[in-house]
Amino acid sequence: MALATRPVTSVPNDLEAFWVPFTPNRAFKKNPRLIARAKDMHYYTVDGKAVMDGSAGMWCCNAGHNRDPIVAAIQQQAAELDYPPAFQFSHPKAFELASRIAALAPGDLDHVFFCNSGSEAVDTALKVALAYNNVRGEASRVRLIGRERGYHGVGFGGISVGGIVANRKMFGTALSGVDHLPHTYNREKQAFTKGEPEWGAHLADDLDRLVALHDASTIAAVIVEPMSGSTGVLPPPKGYLQRLRQICDKHGILLIFDEVITGFGRLGHCFASERYDVTPDMITFAKGVTNAAVPMAGVMASKGIYDAFMTGPEHMVELFHGYTYSGHPLAAAAGLATLDVYKDEGLFERAQKLEPVFAEAMMSLKGEPNVEDIRTVGLLAGIDLAPMQGKPGLRGYEATERMYHDINIYVRVAMDTLVASPPLIATENDIGEIRDGIAKVLRAVA
Ligand SMILES: Cc1ncc(COP(=O)(O)O)c(C=O)c1O
Repeated sequence: MALATRPVTSVPNDLEAFWVPFTPNRAFKKNPRLIARAKDMHYYTVDGKAVMDGSAGMWCCNAGHNRDPIVAAIQQQAAELDYPPAFQFSHPKAFELASRIAALAPGDLDHVFFCNSGSEAVDTALKVALAYNNVRGEASRVRLIGRERGYHGVGFGGISVGGIVANRKMFGTALSGVDHLPHTYNREKQAFTKGEPEWGAHLADDLDRLVALHDASTIAAVIVEPMSGSTGVLPPPKGYLQRLRQICDKHGILLIFDEVITGFGRLGHCFASERYDVTPDMITFAKGVTNAAVPMAGVMASKGIYDAFMTGPEHMVELFHGYTYSGHPLAAAAGLATLDVYKDEGLFERAQKLEPVFAEAMMSLKGEPNVEDIRTVGLLAGIDLAPMQGKPGLRGYEATERMYHDINIYVRVAMDTLVASPPLIATENDIGEIRDGIAKVLRAVA
């Protein structure tokens, strides 16, 4: 439509124009879930109903919703500085936040490259891995290794190393030179495990097989989620990540942990690498860094990686990569306020304390109709339901529909797996309410 003929008012109730991401649009638009506001553990729908948030948004509002100090920091920042150029300029809060994050990071992951989404962070980390090998004189290392059932966002890099078929099959061949480790889930050996399963560390040895196939001199990096979230909460088998680290070290391969979900407290530590005592060469983060109040993400890189780039003439750009909104002032202000809330309220420690309570509550759903497996770790649970005959995904979809519309609880669903991951401020009562709501709905969709 020509600008002159475009109506001057928008149509607030027309759901047609917005193509909703990762959503069945036709079903959604028939029965939309529209949130008007949020506070602490609750969403409030456009018709005023309170809905318990059992998933911290999309595992990102770790401190609960609309927290006053974070809101105030964003408001103040918006009035002070909207935007300086992100290239060749910056602003003090971006540096302050990078220092704060680096101080929380394990080992010598001292440098932070800011992005705006987990997908950008993943692509950034993969590009840094390739470029790092170039600058250190190992340009033949061009292969990237991901893992089956891994989710690393939706950029071409992320879907290439990711291991979810639906996210890959429509989008061509994506990056070449990518291979995958096997996923670590085996129901027969691991069903109904709280925390990290005993079985499966040996699956890391598959990296040796890939090295034998491709040769280490062609492999730049391995990227894994320390705990695979999006395919239904798969905690790493005991010893698996340590073994992966050892094999990477043996062959000079970089290890990248995608901590977009696990970062900032979800597993009871600032980063999962702390819980598992394994330091990767890079960590990607997003979501919880700003409590999701403003989009922000980033890559933490080791001192060795950063230093390798700091050569050549000083007036020259060292890494030809970045985003217009890298380290945006609103995000930096939200990030600083969020880190204060996490610290002041001891939320990572709180998650650690709640872990057994949460695990017990979720495991007590064993025996409810159609429950085939339950996995828990930190404040995360994946509950596998038996798919309906010939209709994969329908039971999970119906369960979350009823839970939201009838029981006033929100938990995420991945096909027929329900995924609970409440904000870290959840009380034992909140956890009980989420548990009881899930039980009720499982009976309803039996
Ligand atoms: C492990 C992991 N990596 C990357 C992403 C992508 O993040 P975004 O949706 O912000 O691009 C996600 C999103 O859930 C994720 O769980």
